[in-house]
Amino acid sequence: MGSVFVIDFGGQYSHLIARRVRELRVYSELVPYDTEIDKIRQMKPRGLILSGSPYSILSINKDLLKFNKKILSMGIPVLGICFGMQLIAKLLGGKITRSGKNEYGKTKVKINLKSRLFEGLKPVETCWMSHKDSVSEVPSSFNLIASTTNIPIAGIEEPISKIYGIQFHPEVIHTPSGTDILKNFLFGICKCSPTWTMASIIGEQIKKIKDEVKGGRVICGLSGGVDSSVAAVLVNKAVGDRLTCIFVDHGLLRKGEANKVIETFRENFKINLIHINAKERFLKKLKGVSEPEKKRKIIGNEFIRIFEEEASKIKNADYLVQGTLYSDVIESGTRDAARIKSHHNVGGLPDDMKLRLIEPLRLLFKDEIRKIGKELGLPDEIVWRQPFPGPGLAIRIIGNITEERLEILKNADAIVTEEIKRVGLYKKIWQSFAVLPAIKSVGVMGDERTYAYPVIIRAVNSVDAMTADWVRLPHKVLERISTRIVNEVEGVNRVVYDISSKPPSTIEWE
Ligand code: XMP
Repeated sequence: MGSVFVIDFGGQYSHLIARRVRELRVYSELVPYDTEIDKIRQMKPRGLILSGSPYSILSINKDLLKFNKKILSMGIPVLGICFGMQLIAKLLGGKITRSGKNEYGKTKVKINLKSRLFEGLKPVETCWMSHKDSVSEVPSSFNLIASTTNIPIAGIEEPISKIYGIQFHPEVIHTPSGTDILKNFLFGICKCSPTWTMASIIGEQIKKIKDEVKGGRVICGLSGGVDSSVAAVLVNKAVGDRLTCIFVDHGLLRKGEANKVIETFRENFKINLIHINAKERFLKKLKGVSEPEKKRKIIGNEFIRIFEEEASKIKNADYLVQGTLYSDVIESGTRDAARIKSHHNVGGLPDDMKLRLIEPLRLLFKDEIRKIGKELGLPDEIVWRQPFPGPGLAIRIIGNITEERLEILKNADAIVTEEIKRVGLYKKIWQSFAVLPAIKSVGVMGDERTYAYPVIIRAVNSVDAMTADWVRLPHKVLERISTRIVNEVEGVNRVVYDISSKPPSTIEWE
């Protein structure tokens, strides 16, 4: 039981620390460094971890001093990592100096095995360093517990107050015993239990939603993607048939996707689902439109209009479910928590809808949401769905969108997915799909000259979609995709593979 918070000073690994703690089944979240001490007390953490920072403790940004020193004497165990250790040392009477040269990378650290932080480790361990400054004088009440050849003070402890600091990073894989150090802190020092499991999150969330919604009615915009699907099933467990899901199907989804959503929600989960087949309406609005941003705008506006129309038919709806993830929350700054995703299907809802938000996934990372989806019994096709843009295939059909072109792309895209799944790569690739350009080229099939569309295959790997690298797909896979598309999809006589990364290209073509 109990959670451990990461006090975030903006370090590049802050999120990773929270993730590692969660992987050890202890709940963790990031809190800004200037969080009020009373708020921290109310949250009742079992321990605190002070993160690294891009700032130097020597030319400290005044703002960072808003961290309240009294947090170190609340009786809650503290582990300072890198900047976090330097901050502890500085605030409690130690000294910091610039070491002259920056230290990045793997190094050997000699450790004092008597420290509870290092229980079960070897006397010399490999660790990962990334710092410019270091502690040059240990605060008087502290023990020295680790050193390297470059920095004599690489770890400190005050075991009675349970305050620990390490200059190296236990959260990165380059520190092989990092997990053991975190375990020692969480279980040995903070006395946490590893009880934060997916089942426990589901239970907690259901209770929380029940307490909040009471007898109220809830609506949920369902896109078919993993986030909104998991959110909907979770809320359904809490409020039963007082949940109504609205699935606005713009007709620009991948082949078979709409049916899977309907089957899963109506038949498997018996959830009230309003399926709006709005393909005609969208295609009519998009007729003759070839400019990408215009397509996005039309789809976004029409989407909201239809959603509003349907939502207003549900009498006395009080709540709206959103599939906001922790990465969305973090992206918008840990303190700007109330942001609603604008690019999602139900984004930009008008204020006068007066619906209160339920965001059951807002503290979870994507892979955790997938685990919850699995635990809730959602099928793999939904749980493992690759990211898909809100405007759907409209931005993968370059130029004009017609029924015929939409059909070509759906069929070609389905073959790409099938073949990538066949070789077990689907879950390992960030996004893989087909694009239909607005040109035709000459080919020869049988004895006949053809003049037909090429299909572009795109497969990229990425961590956050901000940058991406094209996937070196095995030639055999490309060959099968190419042969199948040309043979099976009428109107296509050529297949090309996009070998551009982002930047300079983008993942989508429009
Ligand atoms: P780009 O093409 O900008 O895409 O490299 C980055 C990520 O965002 C997705 N994407 C969108 N998602 N509405 C969305 O909901 C959009 O208009 C949109 N455009 C791009 C894209 O699939 C990729 O994952």
